[in-house]
Amino acid sequence: MNDQYDLIADGLAQSGYAIVDNFLSSQEVDNILNSGVFQDHTASFKRAGIGKRQDLRINEAVRGDYIQWIDKNSAPDAVMVYVNKLDTLAQYLNQNLYLSIKDNEIHMTIYPAGTFYKRHMDQFKKDDHRKLSVICYLNKSWTEEDGGQLKMYTDSGPVEILPLQGRLVCFRSDQLEHEVLPATRDRLSLTGWMLDQYL
Ligand code: OGA
Ligand code: MN
Repeated sequence: MNDQYDLIADGLAQSGYAIVDNFLSSQEVDNILNSGVFQDHTASFKRAGIGKRQDLRINEAVRGDYIQWIDKNSAPDAVMVYVNKLDTLAQYLNQNLYLSIKDNEIHMTIYPAGTFYKRHMDQFKKDDHRKLSVICYLNKSWTEEDGGQLKMYTDSGPVEILPLQGRLVCFRSDQLEHEVLPATRDRLSLTGWMLDQYL
């Protein structure tokens, strides 16, 4: 476990991003999927926005995902396993990278087949308290043909990452531009940010 945290800390320090596989085990991913939080998502998830009060058509041209914020007081145990791991990771990064992460916010995310999120940066306002973006994917037996890569524009060129179950990607929210390519299947993830202030 500490090995994974080490890899994340090293990646962030050296290149501003990190990718670790099996951050959640196959069983832990199953538990989340079986907890029902992603079921009936057409009723309970909302179209994700960009900034405030935007035109839906403009929005659709930029991003097509549906989200639901995780309420830590009512989330099922299977989801809390992930929330608690992120809290532990935050403490580890505070100690090892001298960050000052105080809190995190996480939403459940679905990109229906064919949707995408155009190139962007997660921190776009001066008063943004997002320091690190952290995404964990929940997609069983996903292959290259399914698409849905996270494409990150790093200093050493573009890097494409498949949204494989249990895989965690972490990067500096204010430095790294990225996009989500369209997939041929629904694409599920837990998307979060580590914040330098309390929610
Ligand atoms: C986002 C985002 C990337 C992904 O939600 O801001 O860029 O791989 N997500 O889901
Ligand atoms: Mn993003």
